[in-house]
Amino acid sequence: MTTQITSLSQYKEEYKKSVDNPEAFWKEQAETFTWTKPFDKTLEWNFDEPDVKWFLNGKMNITVNCLDRHIEKRGDQTAILWEPNDPKAEVQEYTYKELLAAVNRCANGLKSKGIKKGDRVIFYMPMVPELAIGLLACARIGAIHSVVFAGFSAQALADRVDDAQAKMIVCSDYNNRGNKNIPVKSVVDQAMDIGCNSIETVLVHNNTDGDVEWSDDADVWWHEIIAGQSDICEPEIMDSEDMLFILYTSGSTGKPKGVVHTCGGYMVYTCYSFRNVFQYKDGDIYWCTADIGWITGHSYIVYGPLLAGATTMMFEGVPTFPDAGRFWEICEKHKVNQFYTAPTAIRALMAKGDHWPAKYDLSSIKMLGSVGEPINEEAWEWYDKHIGKGNAPIADTWWQTETGGIMITPIPGVTDTKPTYASYPLPGIQPVLVDTEGNIKEENNVEGLLCIKFPWPSIIRTTYGDHERCKNVYFSAFKGMYFTGDGARKDEAGRIRVIGRVDDVINVSGHRMGTAEVENAINEHPNVIESAVVGYPHDIKGQGIYAYVISQNQQTDDTFRKEILDVVKREIGPIAKPDMIQFVNGLPKTRSGKIMRRILRKIASKDGDNLGDISTLLNPEIVADVKDGALV
Ligand code: PRX
Repeated sequence: MTTQITSLSQYKEEYKKSVDNPEAFWKEQAETFTWTKPFDKTLEWNFDEPDVKWFLNGKMNITVNCLDRHIEKRGDQTAILWEPNDPKAEVQEYTYKELLAAVNRCANGLKSKGIKKGDRVIFYMPMVPELAIGLLACARIGAIHSVVFAGFSAQALADRVDDAQAKMIVCSDYNNRGNKNIPVKSVVDQAMDIGCNSIETVLVHNNTDGDVEWSDDADVWWHEIIAGQSDICEPEIMDSEDMLFILYTSGSTGKPKGVVHTCGGYMVYTCYSFRNVFQYKDGDIYWCTADIGWITGHSYIVYGPLLAGATTMMFEGVPTFPDAGRFWEICEKHKVNQFYTAPTAIRALMAKGDHWPAKYDLSSIKMLGSVGEPINEEAWEWYDKHIGKGNAPIADTWWQTETGGIMITPIPGVTDTKPTYASYPLPGIQPVLVDTEGNIKEENNVEGLLCIKFPWPSIIRTTYGDHERCKNVYFSAFKGMYFTGDGARKDEAGRIRVIGRVDDVINVSGHRMGTAEVENAINEHPNVIESAVVGYPHDIKGQGIYAYVISQNQQTDDTFRKEILDVVKREIGPIAKPDMIQFVNGLPKTRSGKIMRRILRKIASKDGDNLGDISTLLNPEIVADVKDGALV
């Protein structure tokens, strides 16, 4: 197993080692895994291309490390513990032995449908064990998985399928969420009608026995391809740098991009970070409430915990069903030791009242994690007091889809915590704050743009099918550095607080969205001439979506508003629906015709009296108009 840091002096020592000699540091960690053939070089890198390779020429399979290698010591230990949406329904448990067998059966089933190494398989599924099994089955045979969050629309699904040129979609019939039964397969059917020409098979998991339309050409039942399959499937031998998965995420411009992670580096880093951040000990019950549709679920529900031989819980439902005590009821029921969630959930549950957590015994909780967006002080304090009871250190973990694993975080019980501060880099991570010219700000008590100046094993390798885009977005802003897109500040002790995005990406309830993407969706409405979308502070969601819309025929009624929301829902999904739509006669623009979002952001954030010099705008007169009509 990778090293587990247990004291401050050890953290300092490990950190120093990781910076003084990164290759020796990561070689030692990587050697704790099972390799079919050992790697012969630890690292080759060049951020200009970018071209980063870890554990070169090493041959391995990540599922051997997630499953097979645990069988001897913990074959009968629960690997996945599944808590259903309905609290009265039966909990499911897969031991490591059972999980390996299920993964192998599924892998053999996938092979029987012609899936082989290098093929892309899209998952559009609820939080059921079959999702984790399916991902691991792909990894077993070298197929590349790409999970699309089941809240995305048919159009968004089709866009991702087409970009990945996937051969198969795996979905379920319906999704149980709260008191809703949400159709899933019919969304896939719509996506197949819009695009998805590369798809040969739609594999359908029967989750709810619901009625579905069936196409004999493409559709196949999960249970039918699994039936009679062997429990044994020899793992495909993968190179460290072979692709493990693609995960689509939003950027400042254009369509979502497919972030590519590879087998070896991702394996080493997710295991190393999991063991340290969550301080997992044998026998603990670990619960991350994320959805596997996002990177957090990939790295810290599936891969990290299983690599570390942990018991990882998957929850099918939502925090407020059947009531706002559900999370805490589950913590008590399963005696959860590590609990990892998002600030938006904390704020939403905090608003429901302190009596909810008070009803349950939360004494098993040893540490708390937060992820996905900045956590405000009030939410941090509430989490500490009402959930951790002052005894469970909070790891405010900063990272990104592109980083593959947690980068900056306190280590519970090892380093100190401070509300709203992600604080310290994990060993191997070298963050810096820079000014707009890229000069590094070495001193403390400063603000700057957050960059990472040295590669770590799970760094993004490319954006699928478009390497130039990867280079331009992450490696071109500042030479020789990975640029995160975030702004941050360092306090007097060098602790880092990540403030938020400095680009046109917004973070709504922990969901990352490109403002351009939402604008493109709004503009699909035939009566919209132009639109501009910005984020604004929102009590529960962190950021809300504020849209300024110029309409074709001065139409500004609620029917039109609703139509716009419907278009966004159709193009992206309900998570991208604007919270506010303000109809305007024009948008403030620079002389070169660019929308001045800075001004629009200020107006949406109730800071419209503080706009600075607007005289250089093409149309300064429009500003007063926009301000007057502001909805905040
Ligand atoms: O702005 C940062 C914010 O979420 C962005 C990454 O989003 P995504 O790729 O969807 O990954 C989210 C889960 C890892 C970052 O650029 N972010 C994430 N964690 C934090 C955060 N902002 C502040 N504090 C955090 N702990």
